[in-house]
Amino acid sequence: MVNDQPTKGLADVVVSQTKITSINGELGNLFHCGYEISDLAENSTFEELTYLLFYGNLPNQSEFSEHKNLIYSNREVDDKIINLIREFPSNSNTMDFLRTVVSYLSIFDSDKDNHSHQANLNKSIRLLAQMPTVLSYYHRLRNNLEIIHPDDNLDFASNFLYMISGNHPDKLSSQCLDKCLILHADHGFNASTFSARVTVSTLSDVHSGVTSAIGTLKGPLHGGANESVLKMLKEIQDIESIPNYISEKLQRKEKIMGFGHRVYLTIDPRATVLREMSKNLQNEFGGNMYDLSYAIEQTVLEQKDLKPNVDFYAASVYSMLNLDSTLFTPLFACSRISGWCAQILEQLDDNRLIRPRAKYVGHSPRSYADSNT
Ligand SMILES: CC(C)(COP(=O)(O)OP(=O)(O)OC[C@H]1O[C@@H](n2cnc3c(N)ncnc32)[C@H](O)[C@@H]1OP(=O)(O)O)[C@@H](O)C(=O)NCCC(=O)NCCS
Repeated sequence: MVNDQPTKGLADVVVSQTKITSINGELGNLFHCGYEISDLAENSTFEELTYLLFYGNLPNQSEFSEHKNLIYSNREVDDKIINLIREFPSNSNTMDFLRTVVSYLSIFDSDKDNHSHQANLNKSIRLLAQMPTVLSYYHRLRNNLEIIHPDDNLDFASNFLYMISGNHPDKLSSQCLDKCLILHADHGFNASTFSARVTVSTLSDVHSGVTSAIGTLKGPLHGGANESVLKMLKEIQDIESIPNYISEKLQRKEKIMGFGHRVYLTIDPRATVLREMSKNLQNEFGGNMYDLSYAIEQTVLEQKDLKPNVDFYAASVYSMLNLDSTLFTPLFACSRISGWCAQILEQLDDNRLIRPRAKYVGHSPRSYADSNT
């Protein structure tokens, strides 16, 4: 017997088991393979977390060195990819660019016809390593700057900041970006991860799954929210104008970007870490990004009882790290690629085609011959 009562947006529908991430929306808890997100953000590194997501346990020293070497030595891309990036229209949406290039990367992947677990893991590591490279190449070329090749001696976060700016970053900026990457790495069956799992459940391939995921992350209800938050911060002139700005938006039934969540009924634990980081960065680098953000948080809580999600304080943090807003959502993708790939591997290790049903509410059966066309 088919239950034909639709669950709009698949809210609270459990579609699979997973060993990767657990979220308790009532308590505001997030764990990866048993480790709480605040513990990981405080004590781990993004590279170490990617190992945890791919293998299920933290690495010992030699496993960790090998994992880092693999990532660092796979950063460079084929000249044909660089040529494509040089030809890419400079006014494109950066997520459109990333989706296209990731799809193109599949053609050059040395394991492209091999779909074993190990080959899929190799592809995952290459994608993790190469996404920041192609993104920074595009960013520099579209700004009429020459590309900066990856530096194998730099960690993931420092290398990204270096390839974007051409300067070796200060310690605080690298540490903050590293924490941001940790916070964005995985989040259960969110929309982009689910679309990756749906794609590979047809026994398509890793690159196709990631391409689907990038397209899904682009939307403003998902990863695209962080760029919209910066737009809001820029539109707001001063703290005094915030109550009117927010109430007018709410009256127009517009969403306040960076607020609300499908799963969390309380504050998103990632937002708590990012709020503290935003405050520290303002103390260090000046400006009023944190003050504005905090005042918005208080106002939205007062007027709509909504709490910030991961995207809200990420916007002020990225901005204080001198990153252009066109990089915000792609940077989210450069972190989430680890979660996407871990979840793709998990899906394929125990695969069944994901194929739900819909309740038909259209016209009753009718005859073509009787229609007046
Ligand atoms: C994340 C989000 C898509 C979750 O959506 P959802 O679970 O489908 O919840 P809904 O959009 O149905 O929202 C439920 C109610 O809260 C309101 N709401 C939720 N988020 C809101 C927001 N950011 N601003 C204003 N109202 C919001 C809705 O208008 C709705 O109110 P109503 O019942 O009076 O119509 C939603 O909160 C949102 O659009 N947030 C802004 C985009 C964003 O920050 N995305 C990043 C998520 S990590």
